[in-house]
Amino acid sequence: MPATVIVGAQWGDEGKGKIVDLLAQHSDLVCRYQGGPNAGHTIVAEGEKYKFHHMPSGILHAKECILGAGCVIDPEVFVRELDELEARGISTGCVHVSGEAHLIMPWHVAIDQGSERRLGELQIGTTKRGIGPAYADKAARLGIRVQDLLEPKILRQKIEVALAEKNVWLERVYGVEPLELEELAARYESFAQRLRPYVADTSLLVDRALRDGRFVLLEGAQGTLLDLDHGTYPFVTSSSPIAAGAAVSFGIGPQRIDEVVGVSKAYVTRVGEGPFPSEITGPAQDRVRELGGEFGTVTGRERRCGWLDLVALRFAVRVNGITSLALTKVDVLSDFDEIPVCVRYRLPDGEETEDFPAHQSDFHHCEPVFEMLPGWLEELAGPALPPAAADYVAFVAGSLDVPVTLVGTGASRDAVLALQP
Ligand code: IMP
Repeated sequence: MPATVIVGAQWGDEGKGKIVDLLAQHSDLVCRYQGGPNAGHTIVAEGEKYKFHHMPSGILHAKECILGAGCVIDPEVFVRELDELEARGISTGCVHVSGEAHLIMPWHVAIDQGSERRLGELQIGTTKRGIGPAYADKAARLGIRVQDLLEPKILRQKIEVALAEKNVWLERVYGVEPLELEELAARYESFAQRLRPYVADTSLLVDRALRDGRFVLLEGAQGTLLDLDHGTYPFVTSSSPIAAGAAVSFGIGPQRIDEVVGVSKAYVTRVGEGPFPSEITGPAQDRVRELGGEFGTVTGRERRCGWLDLVALRFAVRVNGITSLALTKVDVLSDFDEIPVCVRYRLPDGEETEDFPAHQSDFHHCEPVFEMLPGWLEELAGPALPPAAADYVAFVAGSLDVPVTLVGTGASRDAVLALQP
């Protein structure tokens, strides 16, 4: 389909990178629509390992790679990724960044860290990459945008104005060292020189590509339940990972999105704080974590693990308009003779529901209702799934009324079964 959105259907880390990597081969443009260096994906291609925070994985397929207005860019991280790619012989001439995207500045990182420290037990568990403070300045209309890098005078002036206020916060509220204007201005001037050729009108690029019938993949970072509006607030990120965020970020009409592929693990993980109804209790949690290698790519934190939650997934289907589902890491469940799946929540008043609670207190205090499905206890090595694994996948598709078209069966890049064309 010409415009396809790939969206995380859970709390992030669903294995989107692998699905994007697969679909990127059949796309002309690969476009990232929100988030920043809080995301991280590792791709192994032809024996080489690549770690990206900003860069869409399409870069390894020499596709046009575009970062939209909804992203926040840390120039230091971005320049490092560009340099590393170039050093390894991969051209970055196909990379474009929206001039409307906002910059993550050093004070954003310092405030993110200071704020989490101050919150103590109430902290969100952010990646401490400055994401929330950068989006907050954007909403407050105090942000510095990528296009400001193109005008040295404006850039310096904006840094000066920002520092006058941010340094007061850094020193008086968070008790950390203030930032120095001259050093910062010089550093950002050098980033500006390096980034200049990549700055583009990304809305126009995507519009033209769609008019020409080219295939555009719009890639979300994080996941549905981390969405600022529709996720499990306040334990969310500060952008819109849901599919509609793609239209906003690239300035295209929502009717131009043809397909929404939701990516979900065959179980659930979450990093950071916040309620998690289907979280596994007991030793099976460690077993899933070990088998699935569930440690954060950005922070190295242990991910919390839970059984598949169909209530949350049904919500993701609804708020994203998911048209098909990729179920990743099904192989991780091969070790279990019985697999619990959360089919409903029991609310504090005893009522059971298949619908995700709209009220935070219901969500915070609900209990999962599990149905036990038989395991398959064999490797997923063949061209077809073992009958019990196929039944597991069919149960998910039937419960959500959405086809599961891709199934992840192992760690390697090509361990994906296509169930339907
Ligand atoms: P922030 O995006 O760094 O502000 O973090 C806010 C919340 O989103 C925290 O719970 C993070 O752990 C979570 N988060 C942010 N990025 C990712 C990601 O790429 N995968 C999973 N969780 C994430």
